[in-house]
Parts: sequence; C-alpha cells; structure tokens
Amino acid sequence: MKHQGVGKILIGEKELQSRVAEMAAAMDEDYRDKHPVIISVLKGAFYFVADLTRALTVPCNVDFLAISQMPGVSRDTGIVRISKDLDLSIADRHVIMVEDIIDTGLTLAYLLQNLQPRRPKSLQVCVLLDNPARRLVELPIRYHGFSIPDQFVVGYGLDYREDYRHLPYIAVYDTNQEK
Ligand code: IMP
Ligand code: MG
Repeated sequence: MKHQGVGKILIGEKELQSRVAEMAAAMDEDYRDKHPVIISVLKGAFYFVADLTRALTVPCNVDFLAISQMPGVSRDTGIVRISKDLDLSIADRHVIMVEDIIDTGLTLAYLLQNLQPRRPKSLQVCVLLDNPARRLVELPIRYHGFSIPDQFVVGYGLDYREDYRHLPYIAVYDTNQEK
C-alpha cells in the first residue's frame, strides 16, 4: 500500500504556507538592497525554497547544491559528497543556505565549512524544521520554521528512501513499517 507507514500529520499545508510567508517577510526586511543568493540544498529543500522565494519580494538569485551520502562513510561523520556544486560564484555575495531539516547539525556544519572559504559577504542559515533533541553541533540558525519532536518525518521535500517527498504536508513516518 502506497502511504503505509505515513502517520499523523504534524504540520498541515496551510500552516506550512503561512509560516513560509512569515519567514519570507523576515528575509525581505533583512535583505533589502542586498540581492542575496538563496541556496537550496537538494533534494529535501526544493519545495520549501520554491515557496519561500516566490513569497520574497526582494530581488534574489537561486542556486542549487546537491549532496548525497558517501558510500562507506558513516553518517555520523557529517561528511557528505557534493554531487552537484553551485553554478554561481558566491564571492562577495550575501548568501542564505536553505535546508529542509536540521537534526544532528553535522550536514549543515560540513556545508558551512565548504562555503565559507568561497568568501561570501555574509552567510546565513535557514531551516524549515528543527529536531533539537538530536543536535550534536550547535549552529547559528538565522531563520527557523518549526521545531519538531524527535520523530522521523516525511513530506514537503523530505523522504524516506526517496518516497513521500511530494506530500504537501509534513507527517510522521514509522520507519519500522515495511512498504
Ligand atoms: P543532520 O546532518 O543529522 O542534521 O541531518 C540532516 C539531514 O538528514 C537532512 O538534510 C535530511 O536529509 C536528513 N533527515 C534528518 N532527519 C530526517 C527526517 O526526520 N526525515 C527525513 N530526512 C531527515
Ligand atoms: Mg537533506
């Protein structure tokens, strides 16, 4: 059965959209005349960035950075492979890196370390979801959508083994369920 394992809806479509609009309004204030580069970390953040940037009124550029797990490298090293790098130069630009969820924080820490040497004028982080219970490294998060309980979630870009990204809401997923 297709959506087996998908449980309770944690954040519905309307709630997502209104929070995204609030986050865009905060960015509008902060980035007036700054022409930021908004980086969508793929794949998880792509719906979020699409909605967020459409709600922004300040001019901006959008670029994509795709990451994937490195075969044979433990997840808890935080080391990921950049499988598609940015097309744009971020030197001397105001940059906002957008992620779907911050869990341990290791992925974001790794990405920040990768982007900082490119000498952006500023570099801020925007995350839709935050699971603070699992945090291993503290990171400065400028824009933050929702804190969630320590449960695995899917939808609005987030997947379980590549499924469920397209759901328009965020739901709990029972990872013990077999599809
Ligand atoms: P971190 O390095 O532990 O912060 O992990 C962040 C990455 O793990 C995110 O970009 C997601 O791709 C993935 N991830 C963490 N928690 C979840 C979840 O509950 N559902 C789906 N993906 C998740
Ligand atoms: Mg991700």
